[in-house]
Amino acid sequence: MRKNKVMVLATCLGSFILVIFYFQSSLSTAEEHVTAGIWKGKRRRSPLQALYDSEQLEPSSIQATHQKRRELLASACKTYTRKRRVLTAEDLKHLVVDDTHGLIYCYVPKVACTNWKRVMMVLTGQGKYTDPALIPANEAHIASNLRTLTEFSTPEINYRLRNYLKFIFVREPFERLVSAYRNKFTRTYNTAFHKRYGTKIIERHRQDPSLEALERGDDVTFEEFLYYLVDPQTQREEPFNEHWERVHSLCHPCIVQYDVIGKYETLEDDARYLLQLIGVGDSIKFPSSSKTTRTTDGMTEQFFKGINRFYQRRLFNLYKMDFLLFNYSIPYYLQIH
Ligand SMILES: *[C@@H]1O[C@H](CO)[C@@H](O)[C@H](O)[C@H]1NC(C)=O
Repeated sequence: MRKNKVMVLATCLGSFILVIFYFQSSLSTAEEHVTAGIWKGKRRRSPLQALYDSEQLEPSSIQATHQKRRELLASACKTYTRKRRVLTAEDLKHLVVDDTHGLIYCYVPKVACTNWKRVMMVLTGQGKYTDPALIPANEAHIASNLRTLTEFSTPEINYRLRNYLKFIFVREPFERLVSAYRNKFTRTYNTAFHKRYGTKIIERHRQDPSLEALERGDDVTFEEFLYYLVDPQTQREEPFNEHWERVHSLCHPCIVQYDVIGKYETLEDDARYLLQLIGVGDSIKFPSSSKTTRTTDGMTEQFFKGINRFYQRRLFNLYKMDFLLFNYSIPYYLQIH
């Protein structure tokens, strides 16, 4: 009992030390810092200025769309989150920084994140790379090739959060989930995931598993995967793997105020818009992904067929914030009433 209290106190102190004071930029502070800061002497304005300057004029339809997404996110955050929490260093590990252009990208796996990391490598590479499409996928995922916000001091973090353009890409939560399941559990080459997660899922959520299945963990069904997700024990043990962790928990969109919220469903338009804001619209081309690997509405519906209503409801509750914050409606195939 006593020991527990000390632990709690220690944790509290720990989080105080890590507190990051972050106040959302007003445009005037952004301007101050930018003219005094790293863009001084350069002809170009920062992407953040480009974004808010362009909205002073008559907004184009893509600008209006993005403005509406930000407003919806802000109002959903107000409605559904109670307390404003402070950010800790741990919260910032998905935020990739580009000091050359003044950008922060929060990467979400299964939402074109390999391609965005490639683009970030071109942007930060000082000429080392020119075409994102030519960067091998495995290279884009080497952590040391990009810098994340955790690597900076508290004042440096605050400065970047205030002055950089922060962007994120999101996707319909269940499309993303099915994509994660297919990629990690139905492909024979993903043995690391089979061993790390598959064996545990089969052990806990399959009746009378064969010894081979327990050993290999390579034939997890979608249903078993969902049981694992909604099992309270799962998250008590450790955080979800990033491939199925909610965007809300990976990127903290109610604390970090994202300037551009891109969607997988409109990836090409949103990528073009963003690259233009960054001022590289003519020189960098967003890699086109092969359409064949994408899930479709119909496919996700198929995966949910035969899933017990009780689990459908619990799964929806688990991902509810991602639906609400990014304006995704309840899938028509879901039986949650
Ligand atoms: C939210 O989604 C609905 C239905 O898809 C759409 O009509 C509406 O414009 C969206 N709102 C915003 C702010 O994007």
